[in-house]
Amino acid sequence: MKNKILVTGGAGYIGSHTCIALHEAGYEIVVYDNLSNSSREAINRVSTIIGQPLAFIEGDIRDAESLRQVFADHAFFGVIHFAGLKAVGESVAKPLLYYNNNVSGTITLLEVMMEHNVKNLIFSSSATVYGDPNTLPIDETAPRSCTNPYGQSKLAVEHILEDLSVTDKSWNLISLRYFNPVGAHPSGQIGEDPNDMPNNLMPYISQVAVGKLEKLSIFGNDYPTVDGTGVRDFIHVTDLAAGHVAALDYLKQLALCNNDAIGFLPINLGTGKGSSVLELVNAFADVTDQTVPYQFTDRRVGDIASCYASADKAKTLFGWQAKLSIIDMCKDTWRWQSMNPNGYRAP
Ligand code: NAD
Ligand code: UFG
Repeated sequence: MKNKILVTGGAGYIGSHTCIALHEAGYEIVVYDNLSNSSREAINRVSTIIGQPLAFIEGDIRDAESLRQVFADHAFFGVIHFAGLKAVGESVAKPLLYYNNNVSGTITLLEVMMEHNVKNLIFSSSATVYGDPNTLPIDETAPRSCTNPYGQSKLAVEHILEDLSVTDKSWNLISLRYFNPVGAHPSGQIGEDPNDMPNNLMPYISQVAVGKLEKLSIFGNDYPTVDGTGVRDFIHVTDLAAGHVAALDYLKQLALCNNDAIGFLPINLGTGKGSSVLELVNAFADVTDQTVPYQFTDRRVGDIASCYASADKAKTLFGWQAKLSIIDMCKDTWRWQSMNPNGYRAP
């Protein structure tokens, strides 16, 4: 059976870690990325880690001709689709860019997949599609709503996938809803490398600890949570990567048994456990022996108090569950940050 996977956005943070996990699980990989938020150095480092050159094509998912050529050159079992823009604030400033890149780009990819009869897709969705949840932990049946163009673009793609699965029963469309990915590969060679000022908590903490930023602002200490700060389901990026392999193995098994296609299948990838912002900051300081100066400031507009997953469905269907702790997440983030204070850029 075909074993080759197209990984769009495979040079990015989650994609690069997933490429390693896919390689270790015996999959052949072709990465397709326009490097709009990543660098060739990530590809080089993954190649070093896996001990062979990672097949890489520089291209844009909105470029149908370029994609057609890739599908003509390779016989894929399926596609893991990470390519997308992800900065919430930027999406508010540039909604058309986000809808064009994330929604139109995905439609183009689906069209080319259909032309080549490749109908296994794993899509990078997000817990952001749950908006402000009514109940915790959040399971996959929870109502969906979004308040910013980034979230809307993820929700729009989910709706497109659902519609497609109704019309054409031969698609397998898994939508993985990630909670809060953090951490880095234990080698310290690859990790999250924000282009600009970090938007997310963990890269901000680690850049304060390494001395690149002066002080963390904790957005709000008056939430109805354990210590007043926001609560999130932080998940180690290597656990997340393993979740993709488990999803792909599940699709392979279906194909081997000639089972009917599954249509649209949403799955949470989280640990099932919430930790507060302050708990994460304190754990990071403890584990790394670094000081992380912080101040409390106003709540960030659009933030919610608490968000954590029910991870039961992934366990039942894929046999997957997150294994790594907050301590592992902090240790591995620090190893990456301290070994690469400038990320993939030369010092
Ligand atoms: P990332 O920015 O590190 O990786 C995305 C990759 O896609 C980058 O390498 C970028 O160059 C590439 N890309 C973007 N637009 C493209 C296009 N039009 N054509 C080809 N390549 C393109 O982000 P990440 O954190 O690795 O996230 C991967 C996916 O997971 C994204 O779709 C993101 O929205 C989703 N997601 C991320 C998080 C998170 O907190 N990191 C949470 C939930 C969902
Ligand atoms: N926070 C701070 N200070 C910071 C950054 C964040 O206090 O400098 C707080 C936030 O207020 C929030 C928590 O840390 O309470 C986590 O914030 P992040 O920005 O790291 O993550 P979010 O939960 O806001 O959102 C992230 C991604 C979204 C994704 C969502 C669910 O940015 O794209 O997780 O997967 F949709």
